[in-house]
This record gives sequence, structure tokens and C-alpha cells, in this order.
Amino acid sequence: MRDEIVIKTPEEIEIMRQAGGKAAEVLRMMCQAVKPGITTQELDDFARDTMAALGVKSAFLGYMGYPAQTCISINETVIHGIPSARKIAEGDIVSIDVGVWYMGFVGDNAKTVMVNVTDPAVRALVENTERSLMAAIAVAKPGARLGDISHAVERVANQSKLSVVREFVGHGCGRQMHEEPQIPNYGPSGRGPILKEGMVLCIEPMLNLGVHRIRTLDDGWTVVTADKKPAAHFEHMIAITATGAEILTPR
Ligand code: MF3
Ligand code: CO
Repeated sequence: MRDEIVIKTPEEIEIMRQAGGKAAEVLRMMCQAVKPGITTQELDDFARDTMAALGVKSAFLGYMGYPAQTCISINETVIHGIPSARKIAEGDIVSIDVGVWYMGFVGDNAKTVMVNVTDPAVRALVENTERSLMAAIAVAKPGARLGDISHAVERVANQSKLSVVREFVGHGCGRQMHEEPQIPNYGPSGRGPILKEGMVLCIEPMLNLGVHRIRTLDDGWTVVTADKKPAAHFEHMIAITATGAEILTPR
């Protein structure tokens, strides 16, 4: 993390638009490939090939020793699921997180997909987690405060009776994957740094159907809900514009 929020030039934003577009394309292709019987390792291999075809590299591989191209987190796994021989099954929800390097900048995004989910509570978890992300993006504009984003996520979570993971947060993004500021998914509005044109932010709500508490498995990465109930995760990288926010990872 740097100590201050980096303002990007229009030229840098243009590169980040391309980085984000490519991260979104990899995520879209992976989501299309999700089906019962495929292993998360097969999905990660597909991500590697897709990244190569698009001229980008994984921003996760090797980061703090992370061993794969992407994070693939099933059901009670909130984030940082390591691809493995585990097969995806009917009724699963699958959270896929993709970060890429392109021309010295990172593009970062994530999404939870449902595999023929019928349980209405699980469907609502996924739909409302996405809604909380879009609500946060809707309040992001010059002059707003960082806390307005956090509060917008928390509001939707509360309305939907979902709990907010506290230990992991969104972040600024640019020449480093994680820049200032940290963006919690809860907290009061009207507080924190004032948003300015040229800031690039990754907003990433992680919402749980049960308790908010999480724990990390002995592999040092896999983050699961304390009660083993499912969790969803959505992330967009946005740029603050003159009048609002542009999604740099459209999909
Ligand atoms: N995508 C995560 C984020 O948004 C980072 C993944 S951690 C890694 O901050 F180790 F997998 F890279
Ligand atoms: Co991120």
C-alpha cells in the first residue's frame, strides 16, 4: 500500500481501461466455462491460456506466494480459493477473481456465478451482493466521501439480511494491485477521503448468508465462513470521472 491515493492521468486511465477490459474478458470466458464436472484447476488452466491470448499476465500468480492464476471460491469459501482437483457440482455458487497485468497496470474484477441454484436464499445472496456493488458504484463521484461507498454496500447488506465480511476490503488500484485507500464494505457515510477525478478504485463486497465471521484454512489462503454457510463476492474496478464513475471492468 502507498501512503496516498494516486490520481491517474487520462493516458493512464486509458491503459487501465484496456487492462480492466482484458480482466473482464478473462472473467467472462471463465464464467461461461463453469459447468458441473469441471475442476477448478481446469478453469484456472483455461484462464492462463486466455490471458496469454489477450497479452496479459496474472497479477495473482506469485503475489505473496499465491500459487495460481486466479482465485476460485466455492460455496462457503469467501475468497482466495486455490484451484484444485475439486469438481464443480449442481447447486454450487462459484466466486471467480481475476487480476491481470497490462502495460504496467493492474486490472482486477470478480463475480459469483450460480450453477443451477434453486435455493431461494442462495439466489438472493448472490443477487443482493451484486446489487450492493452497483449501489456503491452509483454513489461514487467527485465530492463524495469514501465512506459513502462503504455505507452503500452495508445498506444493501442490512436490507437483505446478509452479513458483511470485515477482515477484507476493496482498494485503490494502478501500478500496484493494492494502493490506497482501503475500502471497507461497512461504515458511516460522510467520512473519509473526498473522491476526486482520476482515482481508480476496486470495490469488492464479500457478503455472507450466515455469520460475518470468517477463518483462514491451514493452506494460508482459503478464506471460509465460520458457519460454513455460503458467501458471495463481486468486484469492479472503477475510475472516478468528472461527473461520476466509469466501470473499467464492464462485463
Ligand atoms: N483479487 C484480490 C483483490 O482484489 C487479490 C487476490 S490475492 C492473490 O485484492 F494472492 F490471489 F493475489
Ligand atoms: Co481486488
